[in-house]
Amino acid sequence: MLRPMVSADREPVLNLIQATGFFTPDEVKVAEELIDIYLTNPAQRDYFIVVVENDSGQVTGYMTYGPTPLTEGTWDLYWIAVSPAEQGKGYGRMLVRHLEEEVRRKGGRLILIETSSQPKYQPTRKFYEKLGYTEVARIPDFYRPGDDRVIFGKYFR
Ligand SMILES: CC(C)(COP(=O)(O)OP(=O)(O)OC[C@H]1O[C@@H](n2cnc3c(N)ncnc32)[C@H](O)[C@@H]1OP(=O)(O)O)[C@@H](O)C(=O)NCCC(=O)NCCS
Repeated sequence: MLRPMVSADREPVLNLIQATGFFTPDEVKVAEELIDIYLTNPAQRDYFIVVVENDSGQVTGYMTYGPTPLTEGTWDLYWIAVSPAEQGKGYGRMLVRHLEEEVRRKGGRLILIETSSQPKYQPTRKFYEKLGYTEVARIPDFYRPGDDRVIFGKYFR
């Protein structure tokens, strides 16, 4: 059900990112760039991408993560999205749990997730809180006036 992303997943993943309606065209472009780095350069170790399939074998969610450069044991969850029709069914939790297992396995100690303070991201913030993440930092007016960068974190040791 959960597995590393492969080239055949590129279109389904881009479709589900767009279908969420959450991301601006520029954000989608950045997500796409990371996907292409991951798919075209198997030797790189900066970005890892996994997908989750539903019972019919359709790709319903994806997550990009990686070790934060120049840190000891800090990891970033860069992107996560579940297709709207499949949200609320536990796929997002499955993806984050996978990241946590990976981070523990590799001796990591901290996972960070950045998000926005916009009201439309409130469900996303609730999701992170539900999974045990707390707000560890906030930069007022970071994305644009009135839109803070909110950083959620979870320490493992
Ligand atoms: C955020 C997102 C990845 C969550 O994935 P999901 O599959 O819908 O979440 P899950 O079903 O695994 O939910 C896990 C827990 O979080 C809670 N949760 C999920 N969405 C929630 C919401 N809208 N409000 C409150 N709690 C929520 C669930 O209730 C669940 O807890 P429970 O099992 O105790 O009920 C998904 O909704 C999404 O793709 N959102 C749009 C894109 C986005 O915001 N990406 C992150 C950008 S920073």
